[in-house]
Amino acid sequence: MQTVVIQGPSTLKGQINISGSKNASLPIMISSLLAKGSCLINNVPNLRDTRFLVSILKDLGCLVDFQKNTFIIKSTVIKKKSADYKYVSQMRASIVILGPTITRYKKFKIALPGGCSIGTRGIDLHLDALKLMGIKILIRNGYVIAERKKNKLDPIIHKFPKISVGATQNILMAATLANGISKLKNCAIEPEVIDLINFLNKCGANIKVKNRTITIKGVRELKLENHKVIPDRIEAGSYILATMATKGRLTLNNFNPNDLTFPLKIYQDMGLKIKKISKSSYEFNCKTLKPLKKISTKEFPGYPTDLQAQLVATQLKSALKSKVVENIFENRFIHIPELRRFGANISIIGKTVTIHKTLNLFGAEVMATDIRASFSLIIAAMMSKGTTVINRIYHLDRGYEEFDLKLKKCGVNISRKK
Ligand code: UD1
Repeated sequence: MQTVVIQGPSTLKGQINISGSKNASLPIMISSLLAKGSCLINNVPNLRDTRFLVSILKDLGCLVDFQKNTFIIKSTVIKKKSADYKYVSQMRASIVILGPTITRYKKFKIALPGGCSIGTRGIDLHLDALKLMGIKILIRNGYVIAERKKNKLDPIIHKFPKISVGATQNILMAATLANGISKLKNCAIEPEVIDLINFLNKCGANIKVKNRTITIKGVRELKLENHKVIPDRIEAGSYILATMATKGRLTLNNFNPNDLTFPLKIYQDMGLKIKKISKSSYEFNCKTLKPLKKISTKEFPGYPTDLQAQLVATQLKSALKSKVVENIFENRFIHIPELRRFGANISIIGKTVTIHKTLNLFGAEVMATDIRASFSLIIAAMMSKGTTVINRIYHLDRGYEEFDLKLKKCGVNISRKK
């Protein structure tokens, strides 16, 4: 299994091109199952998760080509009506396949996504809404068996009891071809959801967003169109935090600050300076890192849970009893024991992490646990004296395109070992 070795301390200095958003690419690639024809999706990051989704689509019988950052789907006729355990168990986002497939086919079977290291993450929000749309759902032998009784799905007026990115995407996709107007309330409005909506509207869907309410007028059919995926705001935020943690200077290209408005405000309060170079290019530097009192993760436009672990790591040396509250996932603290291996002084009570200032951090052998938690280990390694070895780096390869090459180009002493 591959590892990454980092010699610390190091300062991030240089330029990084931000990749296309993983979390926007996955549902957009999946939504091509709703329509006929062919299309080209650009700016898709070449990551373990996107390559994995390509394998799923091929297994279903789709003609797919994925090279560099371009995804081409030539036919969306599905021959196989089931998404198997060996795929779904590895990538939770696969559950979003169910909405589009059961819209087009009378019966579809998908393995239960199963447990997840960052929380229980049920799929009740997805299944309850699909049932209301006239789908019979059975759970048998570890699979969700979905069956559509009518020719088309029923439209729904539905308020999600909890905000969910995946459930919003799944149900809005299903509603695009339903028999009438659906109104979904209490929806996720993350930029990745909006990018999916923009793509679907290009393909002929009729979807409108107002606050957290999404109105979908069912149309007869969709026709695939080309699209360019938005930049990855979480990748960008991760590199910005690494710049702050190491008092570096970094230019990000292909970056959209509007998708990160609230986090950037928090980072500015902590001492980040931002200079606009062009519409999609910004320079960041931070000479003095100020302690943060307390921050809580929240759905967009709040502070993203996907930047929580990296924020905890960034504060290790500057904290003054700083608190980070995780409100989205009940167990997203698996990076904490790993950060303690560097000498970090962190305590957890319930959903609150308290970071106490540590003057000296030392490189250690650690284990990557989930995509974003893994980047917090990179940040800690860059702040530490000596050698850090990160194991299980496939988590990083799931979410950060060419992270080792990007960091190396910016002066980080990082190497990948087999
Ligand atoms: C997506 C993102 C992930 C991000 C998360 C929250 C992708 C591929 N992944 O994950 O990076 O961390 O949004 O911004 O886009 N829940 C239920 N029942 C359900 C569905 C969700 O209880 O049926 C709960 C979850 O356990 C969690 C909360 O709702 O506590 C939010 O999860 P959700 O927004 O659905 O996350 P994902 O879409 O899986």
